[in-house]
Amino acid sequence: MCGIVGYIGEGQAAPIILDGLAKLEYRGYDSAGIAVYDGEQIRIKKSVGRLKILVELTHNGEMLPGNLGIGHTRWATHGAPTDVNSHPHYNAKETIAVVHNGIIENYIKLRNKMESKGYKFVSDTDTEVLAHLLDYYYKGNPLEAITKVMHRVEGSYALGVVFAEHPDRIFAVRKASPLIVGQNSEGCFIASDVPAILKYTRTVYFMENQEVACLQKNKLTFYSADEEVLHKEPVTIEWDAQAAEKGGYEHYMLKEMYEQPKVLEETLRKCISHGDIRIDELKMSESDFRSINKIYIVACGSSYHAGVTGKYVIENIARVSVEVDLASEFRYRNPIIDDKSLVIVISQSGETADSLAAMADMRAKGIKVTGIVNVVGSSIARDADYIMYTWAGPEIAVATTKAYSAQLMALYLFAMKLGKAKGTIDSEVFSGMLEDLKLLPQQVEFLLSNRSKIQKFANRYIGAKSIFFIGRGIDYAISLEGSLKLKEISYIHSEAYAAGELKHGTISLIEEGTLVACVATQEHLYKKTISNMVEVKARGAFVLAVTNEGNYDMEKEADYVIYIPKTNPYFANTLAIIPLQLFGYYVAVGKGCDVDKPRNLAKSVTVE
Ligand code: M6R
Repeated sequence: MCGIVGYIGEGQAAPIILDGLAKLEYRGYDSAGIAVYDGEQIRIKKSVGRLKILVELTHNGEMLPGNLGIGHTRWATHGAPTDVNSHPHYNAKETIAVVHNGIIENYIKLRNKMESKGYKFVSDTDTEVLAHLLDYYYKGNPLEAITKVMHRVEGSYALGVVFAEHPDRIFAVRKASPLIVGQNSEGCFIASDVPAILKYTRTVYFMENQEVACLQKNKLTFYSADEEVLHKEPVTIEWDAQAAEKGGYEHYMLKEMYEQPKVLEETLRKCISHGDIRIDELKMSESDFRSINKIYIVACGSSYHAGVTGKYVIENIARVSVEVDLASEFRYRNPIIDDKSLVIVISQSGETADSLAAMADMRAKGIKVTGIVNVVGSSIARDADYIMYTWAGPEIAVATTKAYSAQLMALYLFAMKLGKAKGTIDSEVFSGMLEDLKLLPQQVEFLLSNRSKIQKFANRYIGAKSIFFIGRGIDYAISLEGSLKLKEISYIHSEAYAAGELKHGTISLIEEGTLVACVATQEHLYKKTISNMVEVKARGAFVLAVTNEGNYDMEKEADYVIYIPKTNPYFANTLAIIPLQLFGYYVAVGKGCDVDKPRNLAKSVTVE
């Protein structure tokens, strides 16, 4: 999604802004732009395509001198990716410039209104309406103009605004779209995400909905929507800038896959103590756990896939019924839910628009929501009733790997804690599970060490038209994620099917040589999955099997077998996903795809 960076201070704004935008490239974008006040006027440069074009166009910002500016990477929603539609947008007099992340839902009505007042629009964007509205309401007081606009627009927005008549300040405001403010001894910053400004400061303010920030060189003031001054506490960012760098790996995705053992270890270190599970930040009491009679897991994409695994694990360990929903469906389906139900929203970014909306809807109905979130201080983390962090650190590659693994771990721990509170697992089983959890980091490490074998295998499939993933139960959940990993970065069509469902239609797609990846880690379903495997093989499929060490009879049925170390069956996803992540990665690398920034995708999907 779009990225915003702004700076005011002692330094030159443009190079700082371009550097910050480069750190936000992972979010996905198709054009970039920058506005700098040069002492007389606001000058804008923008360009469709990669940020480096803008960097070259401005000689790395040198052509835009000035100590105050705002920049933007745009992920097109309203209007094609063109220079004209790129941000920043001006008012007609070019005295106000604005960058925007989000969607103005009532922009057509507002545009008609402004056109009827004589305003001329040059772009197709919803954002331009903001520049004209600000112009219309600006009578010398920028704060007043901003709050008036805020009260009139519907939808989501994070805005950076510059007024030529007030060249000593930048204004920022947000609603349902992330925006942070940072400060150091030389100036102030705005950004969509922490990595953009981490090189310059660790002192960060997370803006709440409809708060306005006024940034000056040496001063930072926050206002409410009623223009009252607010006191806000800064947060110190603990993780280092290096965590968001590539560190010698060819891609962020590869680096992040290799960080998985460390991430799992870190989570276990934080959450297991003296033979028990202690999740410090999760303020749910024993009786809160005991009173849960139903769980709804709500999420999008890979977080949803983690949720599908969570359903099997929680239902089996804690014997509490779980429904898993895509947030985009859940928010509109009016579920039958009571106050003994718990909603778990899973999100790496903590900013996914559908997940946020689903959470807000549930909370408005008095239902408690637990957020399983990676980004500390994100909207879901702040608004959820209870929070459980996944300790994956910053994840830059659009295709999630380590954050997904951390979500699985969080769900295992949650399930075990719930099972213990409900009395559905005895202490011996509980301790055995803890021991299995502790082995996962080194088992993942072992699987990663086999990457060259998987790379060789993957190279055979860079020309594939279609690849299928099948499995039952937890293996189906693994298949969903394996398939998404492959298709989102390699652009090869892929589908995941519950193995038993294949013959109800999809099997007709199997042709001579079609690759079918069969996941068979669940011993009680093993024979059933084998029979589905045999069915596809009989129709010409080439079968890749992922199964447990010891299941050597698999070699009689499958064409290629990858073994995963033995673990508790509920935790098998954590291991089986590793070869599938590597497979997707190497197919994409083999095809020459932009692995970290796949086309059309964004890291945080902050619009509906
Ligand atoms: O930040 P979230 O976990 O809420 O994001 C959800 C999905 O957008 C995300 O998992 C997406 O599917 C990834 N591209 C998967 O790799």
